Amino acid sequence: MKALVLSGGSGTRLRPFTYSMPKQLIPIANRPVLEHVLENIREIGVTEIGVIVGERRPEIEAVLGDGSRLGVRITYLHQEQPLGLAHTVTVAREFLGDEDFVMYLGDNMLPNGIAEVAEEFRAGRPAAQVVVHKVDDPRAFGVAEVGPDGAVQRLVEKPQQPRSDLALIGVYFFTPAIHLAVDAIEPSPRGELEITDAIQWLVTAGAPVRASEYRGYWKDTGRVDDVLDCNRELLEGLRRSVAGEVDADSELIGEVLVEPGAKVVRSRIEGPAVVGAGSVVEDSHIGPHTSIGKDCVLRDTHVSYSIALDGASVRGVSGIHGSLIGRSAAVTSVHSALRHHRLVVGDHTQVEVAA
Ligand code: G1P
Repeated sequence: MKALVLSGGSGTRLRPFTYSMPKQLIPIANRPVLEHVLENIREIGVTEIGVIVGERRPEIEAVLGDGSRLGVRITYLHQEQPLGLAHTVTVAREFLGDEDFVMYLGDNMLPNGIAEVAEEFRAGRPAAQVVVHKVDDPRAFGVAEVGPDGAVQRLVEKPQQPRSDLALIGVYFFTPAIHLAVDAIEPSPRGELEITDAIQWLVTAGAPVRASEYRGYWKDTGRVDDVLDCNRELLEGLRRSVAGEVDADSELIGEVLVEPGAKVVRSRIEGPAVVGAGSVVEDSHIGPHTSIGKDCVLRDTHVSYSIALDGASVRGVSGIHGSLIGRSAAVTSVHSALRHHRLVVGDHTQVEVAA
């Protein structure tokens, strides 16, 4: 079996971060989403992975390389234009050959892994096996109607009036039968070749299509709130490990990871929280549910339920909460008689200042 990981897309809902990095590289618990994805794939014994990339290929390649660091072999496959999820299957046609494959959307997080569904697919080898999850508002997703025996009866992409609350959550197993379907379908109203339509084509043709319900935590990391919530969830599984320096005046509470070369001075870190390699935390209170990237500087601050990306700094500002601070971004305070805020913020940035 091979894998096809989709890592194109522009990530408009994660601006401004996605102006300078693909959304699939946003760190969750200090590791890019894509690394979590590749780890789930390797866990089911699949190591031949095609990664679909668009114009963001250089950044993705710089982080994942040939995959050997993660125990997999990556082939980069270029999609010229974002013409849809089903279109990526045609881009990957040669790479996939006549093998079964798992298709995995590179911004979807399933921290409980995909072993169970992989086993189901391998046992029955239906033409397609989709993964579904109950959601409150299915209108933003592909929606599946599933019989009591797990057979898929109907699939609709982003229906206005959903007939079920089971959303497709970005992991699909296929036999080579999918290639016929992908060649047969027409672009959707949004101008894309939808994988949902290709799977529906299989259903209509009478091919066996099955669904597995995923009951664990799932997130499409498309928005800042989702990224923060997912970070919280992953940090819940953290185990205490202190490789960096922590001075005698500091206190670590609960599950705290201090990476090599990090320094914690006169500070209190409330787990779960991670302080990345080379970062300095001084006279501060960090956590809970906070990830600090590499080479960050935090002084005289209190940061909770937040993520600071590599090289970020926060000095003299307390009460940072629910925040995502970009690479090498600086948040500082000034002593001034004037009670004003000086903001140098990028396009599509969101700043909320307490009134
Ligand atoms: C895509 C799929 C949709 C699926 C969703 C999961 O939607 O088309 O069926 O439910 O991913 O994240 P998109 O993110 O392209 O809008």
